[in-house]
Amino acid sequence: MNKKERSKERREKRREEISLLRTIPYSDHQKWWSSDTTAVVTGANRGIGFEIAHQLALQGLTVILTSRDNAVGEEATKVLQEGGLNVVFHQLDVVDLSSVKLFADWVQQNYGGIDILVNNAGINFNQGSENSVEFAEQVIVTNYFGTKNMIKAMIPLVRPSASGARIVNVSSRLGRLNGRRNRIGDITLRQQLEDVDTLSEELIDRTVNKFVEQVKDGSWTAGGWPQTYTDYSMSKLAVNAYTRLMAKMLSDRPEGQKVHINCYCPGWVKTAMTGWEGHTSPEEGADTGVWLALLSDQSVSGKFFAERREINF
Ligand SMILES: NC(=O)c1ccc[n+]([C@@H]2O[C@H](COP(=O)([O-])OP(=O)(O)OC[C@H]3O[C@@H](n4cnc5c(N)ncnc54)[C@H](OP(=O)(O)O)[C@@H]3O)[C@@H](O)[C@H]2O)c1
Repeated sequence: MNKKERSKERREKRREEISLLRTIPYSDHQKWWSSDTTAVVTGANRGIGFEIAHQLALQGLTVILTSRDNAVGEEATKVLQEGGLNVVFHQLDVVDLSSVKLFADWVQQNYGGIDILVNNAGINFNQGSENSVEFAEQVIVTNYFGTKNMIKAMIPLVRPSASGARIVNVSSRLGRLNGRRNRIGDITLRQQLEDVDTLSEELIDRTVNKFVEQVKDGSWTAGGWPQTYTDYSMSKLAVNAYTRLMAKMLSDRPEGQKVHINCYCPGWVKTAMTGWEGHTSPEEGADTGVWLALLSDQSVSGKFFAERREINF
């Protein structure tokens, strides 16, 4: 067997393992949720978000499926409702602050709060081997600032509970700080982003804003930014850093008001984002997100996962 065949065999074996994972029940979870447990999923009209909403609803939760477009969101919700699942729809564009505010007010009035937030909404304009930064600002604004908008709007709505609330950010391995090709060139900056003691919202914002400024003035290629899917990788690097920062900030909340926040990479998934290429199905891509959202172990916060295992930032 040559090198190429061996690598193909390894990939196939890995794919089988991932498929198997989905058949494993949440046996490591003590069931803490009920039909009153309310989960919000962003960008849930299709792809991984739709599947996360689907799988959470299958576990018996109340799911608020959100979408920036009313018609497709309502259609997706109908599909799940017709399957007998407890899913409701509300419009939500994570970059539009008035939409976020309207949504938060509606949640407050109708549900009094939430227990789970899954920040799934995201965009990526790169395909194949291209590395376009044409839409860099939009990518950073949606993937990072959109996630932040939702966390800030939803934390005040988190219901007090002994089991704690959960936030899951759908991220990507491309946003790793120490990826082989995707590391930040400036070692000091990388170390500051790595060390939770030097990490701050101001530092993360400053980093992504500097990248966007360099894209605008054409100097970004010399900026030492990640080399693959640069804008998307920067947006997810920021999501990962913000996850760790929030975990630290939320850790001193009193018992009964705890919020556990983690992020995960769904793998390379066959969705619109990848042009339906990729190794895994949306069902498999959703699996670790749902597993994390329902995790009973309250010591897990500020971590990065893939395929139900912790990985390095
Ligand atoms: N597919 C992969 O291989 C892969 C790998 C790693 C990470 N991810 C992450 O997984 C998440 C889901 O991606 P996907 O693969 O399922 O892609 P997708 O099928 O393109 O779905 C993306 C979803 O995000 C929504 N969205 C985009 N901008 C939004 C906004 N401003 N407000 C609200 N919703 C918005 C989209 O809504 P519209 O339908 O209106 O556009 C769509 O519902 C993303 O965060 C992505 O970065 C995906």
